[in-house]
Amino acid sequence: MNFLLIYSSRFGYTHKIAQTLEAQWTAAGNTVNIVNLADTPVIQPGEYDKIIIGASIRYGHYAAALAPWIERHQHILNSTSSAFFSVSILANKPHRSTPQTHTYTRKFFAKSPWQPQIIGIFAGELHYAKYNLLDRHMMRLVMKLNKGETNLNAHIEYTNWQKVREFGEQVLQAKK
Ligand SMILES: Cc1cc2nc3c(=O)[nH]c(=O)nc-3n(C[C@H](O)[C@H](O)[C@H](O)COP(=O)(O)O)c2cc1C
Repeated sequence: MNFLLIYSSRFGYTHKIAQTLEAQWTAAGNTVNIVNLADTPVIQPGEYDKIIIGASIRYGHYAAALAPWIERHQHILNSTSSAFFSVSILANKPHRSTPQTHTYTRKFFAKSPWQPQIIGIFAGELHYAKYNLLDRHMMRLVMKLNKGETNLNAHIEYTNWQKVREFGEQVLQAKK
């Protein structure tokens, strides 16, 4: 089958998760076209058997380009087997780790013309050294408020890779 995997990533971590899923789906015998949302992919009806979008959260929101892209492609998305995964630091908290309890995703899809069949909520990466001064300061504040890691030398991957794998398996099994 032909898969389209679109990722939206600021610091490369959602891309890393996307590459892991790409490897899983390719190993299962599929062709995966992996593209950056920033490159504004153009798709035609019937071009792909499955479409998957992954995006990270920054200051409470997905990239500004995500909603307009979905809006433009809603008919293709809704008529294709489709899935979405979200990457954020607060998904690390057990009470914010499902599509129903992860506020960013719940709010986003409450307003979205696209309803994916499968939604994955993944915890991302904390890597202060990658951020500029303002972002580092803000992230540290977010972590402090949430009783998380505030050591500026920290580089932590909070991702549960088993959860990513299970999402990948669900996508493989999904039928439209
Ligand atoms: C400047 C900045 C702001 C962020 N804001 C949030 C946020 O509001 N909520 C959250 O849960 N995670 C937040 N994060 C965490 C990111 O979602 C996480 O680091 C993720 O792994 C980034 O993925 P990316 O490299 O694909 O963009 C933020 C990270 C940075 C650097």
